[in-house]
Amino acid sequence: MGYKVAVVGATGNVGREMLSILAERGFPADEVVAVASRRSQGTEVSFGDKTLKVQALEHVDFSDVDICVMSAGGSISKEWSPKIGAQKCVVIDNSSAWRYDEDVPLVVPEVNADAAAGFTKKYIIANPNCSTAQLVVALKPLHDKASIKRVVVSTYQSVSGAGKDAMDELFTQTRAIFVSDPVEAKKFPKRIAFNLIPHIDIFMEDGFTKEEWKMMAETKKILDPKIKLTATCVRVPVFVSHSEVVNIEFDKPISADEARSILREAPGCLVIDKHEPGGYITPYEAAGEDATYISRIREDITVENGLTMWVVSDNLRKGAALNAVQIAEVLINRGLLKPKKAA
Ligand SMILES: NC(=O)c1ccc[n+]([C@@H]2O[C@H](COP(=O)([O-])OP(=O)(O)OC[C@H]3O[C@@H](n4cnc5c(N)ncnc54)[C@H](OP(=O)(O)O)[C@@H]3O)[C@@H](O)[C@H]2O)c1
Repeated sequence: MGYKVAVVGATGNVGREMLSILAERGFPADEVVAVASRRSQGTEVSFGDKTLKVQALEHVDFSDVDICVMSAGGSISKEWSPKIGAQKCVVIDNSSAWRYDEDVPLVVPEVNADAAAGFTKKYIIANPNCSTAQLVVALKPLHDKASIKRVVVSTYQSVSGAGKDAMDELFTQTRAIFVSDPVEAKKFPKRIAFNLIPHIDIFMEDGFTKEEWKMMAETKKILDPKIKLTATCVRVPVFVSHSEVVNIEFDKPISADEARSILREAPGCLVIDKHEPGGYITPYEAAGEDATYISRIREDITVENGLTMWVVSDNLRKGAALNAVQIAEVLINRGLLKPKKAA
């Protein structure tokens, strides 16, 4: 007997990816319900070779739903996740609303799958920020070999990380530039086409942005509170996949060759690292893929025990939808959640 799954935000970037991943992986669902706002009620979304009619969130009865994968933004999640969780339907949430709540596990299955068992306090599990997910997948196997003391990360984040309207803005601005029309910036604070913007999410008092703060706080919660991390997050005119330059300081030496062979064996990681033109991954190639790709691994001789690497992954998949589906699979495979129908 299978599970009943609701996908909230089914018409959005992450929600659509969620539906295709559930279908691709043959997720053990008897029924999948597509949910969005009232604006989308009655429209259709694809689920494998079927189409599903979208229901408005207010009209869904969650009492017989087992799992709700939610990607409708922070304010919707703040309001709805506790109500849905109270009906013993586990919410796996993609927003930042619950990530820092002590009673809510923040999970990347390759790194801290055991934490998922803590979902019973609120029936909510948080998915990390897209930039954090791919970072910790690449750091964990190295941290197991030599403890990481400090990380300096610079991100090159695609516009899909800001939702479907942001993708439209890059497309519309690019076309406007080619036909000499005026360029309008609505979603981003400055023009994104043929440009880049060193600002994602709101500014905090110390001058960091919230996106940069999230990477620091989430790496500590998922991987190790002792790791010091500083980030600079930059939006770039790429449609899908986030890239990161990662400088790491360890407590003992680890060579580039050692790191390469550890990462080759690590779950979720794929190393592409040839010292020749094209011997590395680019965001365009990672789009639509599940892996976290690692290239340009080299020793950083400007610090003690340092390594530098280039990490790329599809932000809509590992950074959001895939990670959420993997969390649901952990609950099922470990026997932590039984279908309500079976009770
Ligand atoms: N994109 C990424 O890389 C990424 C990564 C990690 C986490 N996230 C998070 O995932 C969430 C969604 O991101 P996205 O990129 O998919 O955004 P998006 O493309 O803008 O989609 C937003 C979705 O939320 C739905 N929604 C909006 N208001 C709603 C309401 N009142 N009730 C029910 N549904 C409502 C929308 O439905 P309508 O079409 O009906 O408006 C749409 O399906 C955000 O919290 C984001 O921070 C995104």
